[in-house]
Amino acid sequence: MDADAPELPVSPLDVLRKRRSAKWRTYPADVLPLTVAEMDFDLAAPVAEALREAVERSDAGYAMPGPDLGQALAAFAASRWDWEIDPMSVMAVTDVGVGVVELLRPLIRPGDAVVISPPVYPPFFDWVAEAGARRLEVPLAHDAAGWRLDLAALETAFAAHPAAYVLCNPHNPVGRVHAAGELATLVQLAQAHRVTLISDEIHGPMVLPGATFTPLLTVPGAAEVAVSVLSASKAWNLAGLKCAVVVTAAPSMAALAGRFPADTRWRVGHLGVIATIAAFTAGEPWLDQLLATLGHRRARLAGLLRQRLPMLTWDPPEATYLAWLNCTALGPGDKARELFLERGRVALEPGPRFGAVGSGYARLNFATSDDILDQATARMALSVT
Ligand SMILES: Cc1ncc(COP(=O)(O)O)c(C=O)c1O
Repeated sequence: MDADAPELPVSPLDVLRKRRSAKWRTYPADVLPLTVAEMDFDLAAPVAEALREAVERSDAGYAMPGPDLGQALAAFAASRWDWEIDPMSVMAVTDVGVGVVELLRPLIRPGDAVVISPPVYPPFFDWVAEAGARRLEVPLAHDAAGWRLDLAALETAFAAHPAAYVLCNPHNPVGRVHAAGELATLVQLAQAHRVTLISDEIHGPMVLPGATFTPLLTVPGAAEVAVSVLSASKAWNLAGLKCAVVVTAAPSMAALAGRFPADTRWRVGHLGVIATIAAFTAGEPWLDQLLATLGHRRARLAGLLRQRLPMLTWDPPEATYLAWLNCTALGPGDKARELFLERGRVALEPGPRFGAVGSGYARLNFATSDDILDQATARMALSVT
């Protein structure tokens, strides 16, 4: 990664407010939204260009993902992470959620459990229910070194023979990049107890300076027990275009993907496929700029919180642009987020949505400008004085 890449600019608020995506439509115009995982930066030039060309061709029909999608991901994964992917093992799906649910369905027998580790991206709870399983929660552990997988508790949970574990790698909302050694232990546990690992690696490209991402399928022995679900949609801000990929590396896991409903391929976004190929093939220089920018924003946020909101604590994330703020000093449940919204007109994601262990927490999205972060933290500070 090029740490000296120039920072990405952010348009002024009146321009951002013209966007019609969820981030900009959920709250009234006087609220600064630091909520849903969308970024305020402009699209990467090669991605914008590919989309513009598609519009100029009136090329807005159904998607027909071909080998170019798998080849684009394979080349990116090899150069970025030393991960050798067989392009033919890459299958397009509508989004990561659809990929995870469709992978879970054939694994689940009546009464089966699926394990997740809160605090975690709220749809994990819904995906398990949608696939027809019981939820078994093994919360992350937290100590002075930060958040991590609770491998001892996962071992106990795996011994009860759940159908699967849905891993968040890196982990939203805490931004933890699981270490290669932890993932190796996880794979051993999965092998020993015959638990399938489904690794949501949507944040994989968004590992900030100082940390190293380990794709689960690069861990020895993982191929037979694990599937990865990836997308360009977080790192290149393409969530509305609807394209993600399921990656497998052994016949038994490919068979799971082979059982997806036949119609699945018609549900992928055509512009999503076009943008994803552009991102993986020509979007790396922009990604480096993004990561350098987010690294600076993380440091800036640390300073602002220390100065203005010293009652909040956090472990700065190793990946993502999400800050998981411990606001318990301001009250339990959703109290702090309500104060920030009602008095400060700053919207954060409510911690309890990420599981019961999220009581007293809030998640802040710092993929924005220094100026907006400055305004937001000033207003948050005023709202609690
Ligand atoms: C961990 C994680 N998985 C999945 C998603 C959403 O992915 P998709 O829109 O492709 O389902 C997000 C969005 O923020 C996320 O953080």
